[in-house]
Amino acid sequence: MDPTSKKNLLDEQYRSLTERVGVAPSLYSFLKNSPLNEWLSPLLTDGPWCELGCGNQSIFEEGDQLLSGLSLKKDIFGFDLSSVAIEQAPHSIINYEQADCSHLIPKGPFSFILDGHFLHCLSSMPEVFQTLGVISNALLPGGLYAGEVMTSHKSLSFDHDLFFDHQNSVLYQEDRPLRIILEAREWEGLFNDAGFEIAFFLCQASIKMIPCRDRTQAMSGDPECLRFILRKLQ
Ligand SMILES: C[S@@+](CC[C@H](N)C(=O)[O-])C[C@H]1O[C@@H](n2cnc3c(N)ncnc32)[C@H](O)[C@@H]1O
Repeated sequence: MDPTSKKNLLDEQYRSLTERVGVAPSLYSFLKNSPLNEWLSPLLTDGPWCELGCGNQSIFEEGDQLLSGLSLKKDIFGFDLSSVAIEQAPHSIINYEQADCSHLIPKGPFSFILDGHFLHCLSSMPEVFQTLGVISNALLPGGLYAGEVMTSHKSLSFDHDLFFDHQNSVLYQEDRPLRIILEAREWEGLFNDAGFEIAFFLCQASIKMIPCRDRTQAMSGDPECLRFILRKLQ
C-alpha cells in the first residue's frame, strides 16, 4: 500500500473516532514493570525519547504513574503517520508531530524509542526490515528500542473478513495489508539482522493481540504478544 493511501485511510479512521484511543493495557504493564521500568530510569536524562505510532495520545502522557520522573522530561516526542491523530492529540508537554516513521524519524538521536504497536502495522517483511534500520539510525549508541508485536502460534485464527497470507505473513482486510504476524524466531532473525543486541525477548502467550479495530474482546485464535527490548550497540 502506498504511503499516501495508507495515511488517508488512517486519517479516515481517526476522524470517525468519537474519543481518544486509550492506552494499550499490555504496553502500559510492559513499561511499568521490570526490567523495562528499571532500565529506563537512567535514560531519562541521557537524550530525547519518542513513541512511534502514538495515535492521538501517547502512552507517555501517563507521566509519573508510568515512570517516576517522567513528568519532568521535556524532550519527549510522539509521532504518527496520521495528521488527524496528531491534531486530536492533547496539548501537553509531549511534542506531537506527523511523521512516516518507516522512512524518517525526526528530532533524534534518541536514548529511548518506544514502539506504540506500530511495527506490526507495516505492510511487508522488507518494509519492517527497512524500518528497523531507520529506527537504529535514530537511536544513540547504547539506546533502547522496546515494544510489543503480534506473533503467530499453532491455533491462529481470524475474523471472517480477514485473510492471512501465510507465505508472506501478511494479514489483509479486503485488499489492504493490515498486520504483519511473524513467528517469534522470524522476529528474532529480523532484529539480529538489523544489528541490534536483543536485551529482552519474551513471548507472552497469555496476552492476545486483537488484529482488527472492529472487535474489543480478545479471542483464543488471536496472535500472541511478543515483548522485546533491543539495544543499539555502542
Ligand atoms: C495499532 S495503532 C496503535 C496506536 C496507539 N499507540 C495505541 O497503542 O493504541 C498503530 C499506530 O501506528 C500508526 N502508524 C502506522 N504506520 C505508521 C508509519 N509508517 N509511521 C508512523 N505511524 C504509523 C497508525 O496511524 C496508528 O496510530
